[in-house]
Amino acid sequence: MRIHVADHPLVAHKLTTLRDERTDSPTFRGLADELVTLLAYEATRDVRVETVTVRTPVAEAQGTRLAAPKPLVVPILRAGLGMLDGMMRLLPTAEVGFLGMVRNEETLEASTYAERLPDDLSGRQCYVLDPMLATGGTLAAAIRFLVDRGADHITAICLLSAPEGCERLEKDLDGLDIPVTVVTAGMDERLNEKGYIVPGLGDAGDRLYG
Ligand code: PRP
Repeated sequence: MRIHVADHPLVAHKLTTLRDERTDSPTFRGLADELVTLLAYEATRDVRVETVTVRTPVAEAQGTRLAAPKPLVVPILRAGLGMLDGMMRLLPTAEVGFLGMVRNEETLEASTYAERLPDDLSGRQCYVLDPMLATGGTLAAAIRFLVDRGADHITAICLLSAPEGCERLEKDLDGLDIPVTVVTAGMDERLNEKGYIVPGLGDAGDRLYG
């Protein structure tokens, strides 16, 4: 598994405003959207492409276009939904599947309550959207879900991550023989006793949707 922490002043600027408790929901939603587009640029560096030839008004040119099958974008409901538009801005032809997962705030275990994904993901590149990588339980379960359906290349985009979540992901996904990358705007210090990222930005779902 590879973790990529985006190192860009615009990413840092937007993340700082997201963290600020004075940022209201409409501003939070707009900034999250912009931040995802920046992260999506990094996250799609490995998107599969094929070589094509086009005719310019002057001559033939060798070029590149996205290869089939289309990538699949999977926002994890509810908070991942706030990242979908920002991702689709860069990959407008991608297919979208949905996973509804919720973390029990006492046991911190994740469970799946909704699923709308293609049955067969063989040979598909998947982009998972979830703002917070805290204990890692949600993302680990989502990745397992996709791999069980046949996905062979997974990139997760998370606004913020905790070292504990990354460690758990490494352990849970040990032995998986497909590339898994996490692209994140920030790696914070730790989790607190409630499983919140510290300093974090609070509960992303609540700040997006109230
Ligand atoms: C939050 C967040 C992640 C998950 C991260 O979702 O959006 O999906 O928790 O926690 P973990 O890494 O410890 O599993 P939540 O369960 O609050 O649901 P919501 O998106 O519906 O608000």
